[in-house]
Amino acid sequence: MRIWAVGGGKGGTGKSLVSHGLGARLADRGASVILVDADFGGPNQHTYCGLRKPERTLGQFFDEKVPLADLVVETRIQGLRLVSGNVNAQNTDGITFAQKAKLFRHLRKLPADHVILDLGAGTSYDVLDSFLEADVQVCVIAPDALAIENVYLFLKNVKYRQMTRVLSETGLRDRAREVWKHRTDHGIATVDQFLDHLRAGHPEFAERMDGARARLSIQLVLNQIRDMGQAEVGVAVSGAIQRFLGLPAVCAGHVRHEKDLWRRPNPDTPVLHHGAAFTLRQDLDAVAGAILAARADQP
Ligand SMILES: Nc1ncnc2c1ncn2[C@@H]1O[C@H](COP(=O)(O)OP(=O)(O)OP(=O)(O)O)[C@@H](O)[C@H]1O
Ligand SMILES: [Mg+2]
Repeated sequence: MRIWAVGGGKGGTGKSLVSHGLGARLADRGASVILVDADFGGPNQHTYCGLRKPERTLGQFFDEKVPLADLVVETRIQGLRLVSGNVNAQNTDGITFAQKAKLFRHLRKLPADHVILDLGAGTSYDVLDSFLEADVQVCVIAPDALAIENVYLFLKNVKYRQMTRVLSETGLRDRAREVWKHRTDHGIATVDQFLDHLRAGHPEFAERMDGARARLSIQLVLNQIRDMGQAEVGVAVSGAIQRFLGLPAVCAGHVRHEKDLWRRPNPDTPVLHHGAAFTLRQDLDAVAGAILAARADQP
C-alpha cells in the first residue's frame, strides 16, 4: 500500500481537484483507493465526490477515537472510498506531532492499494510532516508567478523541516545551533556547507539524511494550463527545484483548465463524471500513469 500526499503551499492551485482526480483515475484503473481529506481548514472532498455534508469525518478519529476504518465511506465512483474532513471544525490549527504519528500508523493499516491525502494549503508542521511521511509526494502548481514562488517556498520549508527532524532524531540540535552561530569561524557561508560540515563530523546524521532524502520523490503536477505552450513551465520549475534546492523533483504532467468543470447535471454527480470534464479525466489519467511508472522501480 502506498500513501500519496498532495500539497504545494498556495491556496487554490488545485490540490483538492488533483487529489480527487488521481484517486478517481487510479480507481478507474482497477485499484482500491481511499481518499482522505486532511485539509483541516477547508475540507471539500465530499463535494468533489458528489456527496452531501458528511456525517462521519476524520475529526472523530482524533476527538472521539473512532477507528479510522469506520470513517471510510463509499463514493459513487467504483473503487474510490472517502474519509471526509471535519466540516464543523472549530479549531483549524491542525494536529499535534503525536496525533500525526498515530494517524499515519492507522492509515498504513487501511485496506487499500493507495491512500491519497489532500493536505490543504500552507506550510504548517502539520502539512510538512505529513508530506514528508508519505511514500509519494505530489505538489500542485499553476502556471503563474505566485504559485511558482509559493511551491518553491513550500519545498524549501520541506527541506528545512526534514533537516531539523533528523537533527532532533540524532540529538544534534544544540550542536547544530552552536555551529551555525559560529559559522564564519568554520568557513560556512551557505546552508549546504553547514550540512556538509555536520555530515563530515557526524556519520549517523549523514546516514539518516541520506535515508530521508532517498524516501523523497516529489512529483509536480502543473494544473490549470490554458494553452499547451504553458506545459513547459512544469519541467522548468522541476529543474529549478533540483538545481537550487537539491531536491529530487520531476514533472509528472499537466492538467488543462476546464471552464465548465462545475456545470455538472446535479450536485450528486462527482465533479469529473460528466461530459465537460473529459479532457481533465484524460490529463489526470496521464499524470496518474506517469507517477505510477516513476514509482514502479522504487521500493
Ligand atoms: N484544471 C482545472 N480546471 C478548472 N477548474 C479548476 C481546475 N483545477 C482547479 N479548479 C477549480 O479551482 C478552484 C480551486 O481548486 P481546488 O479547490 O482544488 O484548490 P486547492 O489547492 O485545493 O485550494 P485550497 O488551498 O483552498 O484547499 C476550485 O473551484 C476548482 O474546482
Ligand atoms: Mg483544497
